[in-house]
Amino acid sequence: MSHNTVEENRRRNLFGDQAEVWLFGYGSLIYLVDFPYLESSPASIEGWSRRFWQGSHDHRGTPDNPGRVVTLIEDPGAVCGGMAFRVEAAVFAQLDEREKNGYLRVATEMTFDDGTTATGVTYLAGADNEAYLGAASELEIARQICRSRGPSGENSDYLLDLAIALRELGLRDDHVFEIETQVNRILAERPARNG
Ligand code: SIN
Repeated sequence: MSHNTVEENRRRNLFGDQAEVWLFGYGSLIYLVDFPYLESSPASIEGWSRRFWQGSHDHRGTPDNPGRVVTLIEDPGAVCGGMAFRVEAAVFAQLDEREKNGYLRVATEMTFDDGTTATGVTYLAGADNEAYLGAASELEIARQICRSRGPSGENSDYLLDLAIALRELGLRDDHVFEIETQVNRILAERPARNG
């Protein structure tokens, strides 16, 4: 499957006929909210884990030097926390463009902090997209993150901002926090740039 998913998402139009849809964000959608929304609420989804297994050719890397960003991996029994946004369906045109590097809209059940649930959408980059990188150790992921940057900025900022946002939500994510530790160590060991 092509890593540009705009056409595929438009063709599928999942939930796009509804006036309003709940969107579950688990990566940059938590902390980089550049889209209009009607309401937001911390939420979680069951059976999925957040992993830095997706390549980024367009935001935090380039096709030659892809960065690493998060996707969701099926993981029975796991709970992935994030932020849900109630958005008007028209917002998906903008979101599809932002998430075009391999992410497809998929239906998901989400649970809000008060225990109520809703069916909505999350963006998932599956193993069959061309930008997918797959598993690696947290140290290897940290090294790749530290040498990657793209039109949206440093890959390390994506990781560090996500770790901060998860902590602010009171969430623990051992995978993300271990990569954060390694990234901070690598950055601290780098010689200071002159000028
Ligand atoms: C998300 O944040 O929900 C999707 C992945 C990303 O844009 O970082």
